[in-house]
Amino acid sequence: MKTDAYWMPFTANRQFKKAPRLLARSSGMYYWTHDGRQILDGIAGMWCVNAGHARPKIVQAIQEQAAELDFAPPFQMGHPKAFELAEEAVKLAPAGMTKLFFTNSGSESVDTALKMALAYHRVRGEGHRTRLIGRERGYHGVNFGGLSVGGMTANRKMFGAMLAGVDHLRHTHDLSRNAFSVGLPEHGAELADDLERLCVLHDPSTIAAVIVEPIAGSAGVFLPPKGYLQRLRQICDKHGILLIFDEVITGFGRTGQPFAAQTFGVTPDLMTVAKGLTNGCVPMGGVFVKQAIHDAFMSGPEHLIEFFHGYTYSAHSLACAAGLGTLATYAEEGLLTRAATLQSYFGEAVHSLNGLANVIDVRNFGLVAGIELRPIDGEPAKRAFNVFLDCFDKGVLVRTTGDIIALSPPLIVEREHIDRIVDTLRGAIQRAA
Ligand SMILES: Cc1ncc(COP(=O)(O)O)c(C=O)c1O
Repeated sequence: MKTDAYWMPFTANRQFKKAPRLLARSSGMYYWTHDGRQILDGIAGMWCVNAGHARPKIVQAIQEQAAELDFAPPFQMGHPKAFELAEEAVKLAPAGMTKLFFTNSGSESVDTALKMALAYHRVRGEGHRTRLIGRERGYHGVNFGGLSVGGMTANRKMFGAMLAGVDHLRHTHDLSRNAFSVGLPEHGAELADDLERLCVLHDPSTIAAVIVEPIAGSAGVFLPPKGYLQRLRQICDKHGILLIFDEVITGFGRTGQPFAAQTFGVTPDLMTVAKGLTNGCVPMGGVFVKQAIHDAFMSGPEHLIEFFHGYTYSAHSLACAAGLGTLATYAEEGLLTRAATLQSYFGEAVHSLNGLANVIDVRNFGLVAGIELRPIDGEPAKRAFNVFLDCFDKGVLVRTTGDIIALSPPLIVEREHIDRIVDTLRGAIQRAA
């Protein structure tokens, strides 16, 4: 097979093409490589295949939809499944988040939410609120809005000045106080007060919104310190700033409730999702919105467009069918709360890696874990990458960012799968020492 033409995303292309890792088939908890090796999926594809692979209801829904209605224009037209999916999805959302705007990815969801926040203030006569606040080490996708509020240096440094008027809270990752936390870390709620500091610097009347991931995933599994999100909510309320939760990885059951907002008891104003909305089977994202924010746009003559934003593939018919099949599968199998019942078994399993040479932290919540390794001197990210390659060789798929290994298995995971993932990881970490 020729591998020349495809320039792969977020991939070490030259390394990959010397020995391609190709997945050819999937079912349940497993992939199979092109040469027939079975691979246990420790990361739900990439935080998205929450119901496991090739689930019959989802497969059938997509197949039938392709034959029935391939594409309907989403501007000034609609199709029934778009409305059905939105109705079903808002039933799962935190109370008061009654509207859903569809996109095609997490990155698009983030840029949509940022634009909604700016436009919302403007339609209310507060167009002076133009600043957006993100957080260091945050990941909000790769479009210019998400990149600007995001805080991963490697993702940002090549791409110029990005959006103007953006500032960042400090990140909450603090191994000196919180290493080897079981569940949420004890220390760091006071870091939310950074928002007060930025309010003093910029004046709150210039700030439109703050965006954070309740649990940061892609940047390396950073858990919110106890009380941190509550404090952020209070400060936003005090100053009239919108709070956006980016739930692209925490949404749809990862933390033991449908959304991390519910698990942590903090309701944002806007909430971005993608991945688990369609079980990763057809690209789709969305922004959940509080009723009052939506309603602020609904003024002026009724024949005029209220929000000048959308995508050709917003609410694509195949994605909507996949979404309906996905939500039905989650409901039938109780998957959106399953992480809560497995959390302690999963947590104990991953914390059995504590004490291994070069493991400097293990952290977990719901069905997410981060295992942080001591970098090899002068070769950052290499130790974790070697662990990833070794695990793949032994038939388990994990994911790495820098020297952090992330685990986020499908929510159908059983105890024996957890044991195998952790045992394989243990061997690979020992060999990488
Ligand atoms: C929190 C968060 N936001 C946004 C994104 C971007 O999503 P996508 O890759 O679908 O554009 C991701 C992807 O991992 C994410 O984890």
